[in-house]
Amino acid sequence: MASASMLKLYSSSQLVGGGHKSFNQRRGSVSTGPCRVSFSIRAGSYTDELVQTAKTIASPGHGILAIDESNATCGKRLSSIGLDNTEPNRQAYRQLLLTTPGLGEYISGAILFEETLYQSTADGKKFVDVLRDAKIMPGIKVDKGLVPLPGSNNESWCQGLDGLDSRCAEYYKQGARFAKWRTVVSIPCGPSALAVKEAAWGLARYAAIAQDNGLVPIVEPEILLDGDHPIDRTLEVAEKVWSEVFFYLAQNNLVFEGILLKPSMVTPGAEHKEKASPETVAKYTLTMLKRRVPSSVPGIMFLSGGQSEAEATLNLNAMNQSPNPWHVSFSYARALQNSVLKTWQGRPENIEAGQKSLLVRAKANSLAQLGRYSAEGESEDSKKGMFVKGYTY
Ligand code: 13P
Repeated sequence: MASASMLKLYSSSQLVGGGHKSFNQRRGSVSTGPCRVSFSIRAGSYTDELVQTAKTIASPGHGILAIDESNATCGKRLSSIGLDNTEPNRQAYRQLLLTTPGLGEYISGAILFEETLYQSTADGKKFVDVLRDAKIMPGIKVDKGLVPLPGSNNESWCQGLDGLDSRCAEYYKQGARFAKWRTVVSIPCGPSALAVKEAAWGLARYAAIAQDNGLVPIVEPEILLDGDHPIDRTLEVAEKVWSEVFFYLAQNNLVFEGILLKPSMVTPGAEHKEKASPETVAKYTLTMLKRRVPSSVPGIMFLSGGQSEAEATLNLNAMNQSPNPWHVSFSYARALQNSVLKTWQGRPENIEAGQKSLLVRAKANSLAQLGRYSAEGESEDSKKGMFVKGYTY
């Protein structure tokens, strides 16, 4: 229970943005004689900073580079070019990506895996400092991955709430300023009401804990591409999922101005007989978002989900042909990394070329964020889809 002096502290501006936390800032109660008065506090000690961080990431022409693959998934990336999944190889790959000259022109945030948060360049400069110098916000994946959800129809739920409060506090100290939690919803498996509720509740609890520790939460209920359903079915599921997510985000008193979303685009299932054009994807996706997402949310940072590099860029571009209530941008992993890996091939002499191909994709998506991308000159490779059935991240 908070004391009256605590209450006074909260109304003082001294704490705002000061990164100082003494108890749950979201809600408190104060004893005033015989009756207890409850009060709701939207402004925690980190609120100003959270709002500023989210705004900085969601700035015009900028998006997020997602390189938060777990070591196992990073291993799959490395093995695609014949490299072993060793710590030095993961470090070399991440160094190539994070030290790309000029990256900050298009990228405002980079999501790291825990190992990367503590890694340094070969010269001993912490990756977090490399990012800071490039004006890129360091972020951190905080979920602990997916496991089967008992009682569901072969669906998953996401682990990681245990100890999350202290982990977030530690990540903040290490320089992270935003976080990511990815859970998934499978359309062919239902989705069951249980799986949707579990996904939404887990995201909301995580998001509240992240905000309490100064980290802007990226809220990512990935609706998997798997399935042969038409686009209308995806729209229906996406609306259901996002309505539950916002219901629980509100119940957990999230500061909406200090969150970012990472949705899947609304597309037909990967095995559906017809593909949708970028205009159709944009129309369905924006319809869903406008029905479900308050305009107080600063940024929508899409995942690529197995789309080809060019497709992910074209779809984003189509969504930015007229003004939106939020910054509509990218937080791609596969659709930013694929051609880098192919160019690099693990060879030191290809590092510069690999970095150039990262810049090509980052610039293309930056233009798409501004609605000014043209697919002219895109390579055949960039048009190859990357969908993998039952993909795990
Ligand atoms: P993709 O862009 O490869 O779907 O990655 C999504 C993701 O969650 C990475 O943070």
